[in-house]
Amino acid sequence: MEKSNLVQSYTIGRKDREAKNGHRSFLIWFTGLSGSGKSTIANLLETKLYQQDFHTYTLDGDNLRNGLNKELAFTEEGRNENLRRTAEVAKLFVDAGTIVIGAFISPTVVVRELVKNIVGCENYVEVFVNTPLAICEQRDIKGLYKKARTGEIKNFTGISSPYENPVKPDIIIHTIEESPEQAVEKIMGIIKKRLY
Ligand code: ADX
Repeated sequence: MEKSNLVQSYTIGRKDREAKNGHRSFLIWFTGLSGSGKSTIANLLETKLYQQDFHTYTLDGDNLRNGLNKELAFTEEGRNENLRRTAEVAKLFVDAGTIVIGAFISPTVVVRELVKNIVGCENYVEVFVNTPLAICEQRDIKGLYKKARTGEIKNFTGISSPYENPVKPDIIIHTIEESPEQAVEKIMGIIKKRLY
């Protein structure tokens, strides 16, 4: 079927929903190693935004991989598809007028570009949760690094699968020096110009 045959226009659009919500919508994308603190900071950021009456929704690797992206592996291909689908979901939420928070390892420059292109660069804010591998491994909250070292888990990011640092993230969080509260303050400072 030709693409043009699939186009349907609805009366209510993003601008209407944003106007009704009283704020603009966009995607805040957290990238970093497993155990870097992405979800912790994302959770605190959403709580803060929610308390200030913003409409928010958080998409998290650990959650999406239990449902929508259940069958996908941690190969490069599986991760790319995981993130492509997630970006499409995020795009719909942004169109629905929601501030979307995404917390995914998203290990490569290319895959983060893909997310950004799907959602639109004007709707994308990248937060690099820069926690060194040694610290993530030392914390090993889920016990996965240990399993990765013994080979029980394959293609583990940072151990047997690459992580490429973002080239030009909008925000960098150093979790060794900054508490989650300070990280959220920093993010709020940067996104405030995008909210209205
Ligand atoms: S991504 O690379 O495709 O962006 P995603 O953020 O969805 O990854 O999922 C990462 C989570 O899956 C980790 O926090 C961890 O709990 C779990 N996980 C299981 N196997 C792996 C693996 N091989 N590499 C990284 N994370 C893994």
